[in-house]
Amino acid sequence: MERERPDTPFVLLDRDKLEANIAAMAAFSRAAGVALRPHVKAHKTSEIALKQLAAGAVGVTVTTLKEAEVMYGGGVKNIFLACQLADSGKIRRLFSLGEKAEVSVALDSNEGALLLAGAAKERKRRLSVLLEVNTGLDRCGVLPGKETLELAREVMKMPGLRLKGIFTHAGQVYGASSPAEVSAIGRQEGELMVKTAEILRQAGIPVEVVSVGSTPTACVAGMVKGVTEIRPGNYVFYDAIQVGLGVVPAQRCALSVVATVISKPVPGRIVIDAGSKSLALDRGAHGTTVVEGYGIIKKYPHLTLARLSEEHGIIQSAPEGGREPEIGEQLEIIPNHACVVVNLADHLVVARDGEIVERWQVKARGH
Ligand SMILES: Cc1ncc(COP(=O)(O)O)c(C=O)c1O
Repeated sequence: MERERPDTPFVLLDRDKLEANIAAMAAFSRAAGVALRPHVKAHKTSEIALKQLAAGAVGVTVTTLKEAEVMYGGGVKNIFLACQLADSGKIRRLFSLGEKAEVSVALDSNEGALLLAGAAKERKRRLSVLLEVNTGLDRCGVLPGKETLELAREVMKMPGLRLKGIFTHAGQVYGASSPAEVSAIGRQEGELMVKTAEILRQAGIPVEVVSVGSTPTACVAGMVKGVTEIRPGNYVFYDAIQVGLGVVPAQRCALSVVATVISKPVPGRIVIDAGSKSLALDRGAHGTTVVEGYGIIKKYPHLTLARLSEEHGIIQSAPEGGREPEIGEQLEIIPNHACVVVNLADHLVVARDGEIVERWQVKARGH
């Protein structure tokens, strides 16, 4: 039991809410009959990944080699690297991980496929790959349908590669302006992928995995018949962006940044000791702006955290007055984007019933 309260700012994690969020997504995946492979970029912490696996996740998704290596070190044996690799150092690290764990990796070009196939041949190994399909985020990925089929045909000619399936991330959902739009994007994500998988199968190419998902779309895309796997990440915490999109109410958010009021220099201005180096400047995800201010101040939701310097946050009190915090008071702030906040912290301070019980190291932060 660790009871000492750290100096502010620090990242506080409500263990009951975390476990409830993990259990709810696991229950959805079981009911929908789809595998759950959570994206651990959200927490970068082995303790949380192990809870996700214990709740029924089949493995994890990562974006970086460091995340993959930390997860393996923490006991995770099944890892999908959802990012293209184009340099020999990272490819070497992937293969060395593949000697100990079941790994698969993203692919979206013939050039990338040749690089991986060459490395596999050198090592006399076979690497599992999933083709990334662009269902609207316009980041990586080939287009659904014909373009995916063309790449799949090339990959099938490369003996070092085993084509396991296709995946997508409909991150454009973070620009949605209503819950109805969130649902429409999720449905389209699932349907485009199932159709693409069918086109490949009709051409004689086996597709075992049809993987979709973001936190807002997982429970919609995951219901489309033919989808086999969902990969939400942020859902373990949720945050002010998810609340703004209407995905969950603020009460479901498990993570907050704790800050102290350090100054009230003039009426209407309340200054805290947390700025962009703990709360981050995100106002949306993938380049969108969907929320006002820089977080939800839990006890004072009517106040706006309007500006951030690096180590200061400036709260505007409401023009119509109302309750406001005093100098020395600690505030819990639900950050806009929890995944980025976690990457800025060394530890998550874990609490149960308001009492600090543990500290988990964010081992895969940085890099
Ligand atoms: C490829 C991929 N899959 C899954 C996710 C998880 O999505 P979310 O952050 O909405 O939980 C992400 C997030 O960026 C991603 O890039």
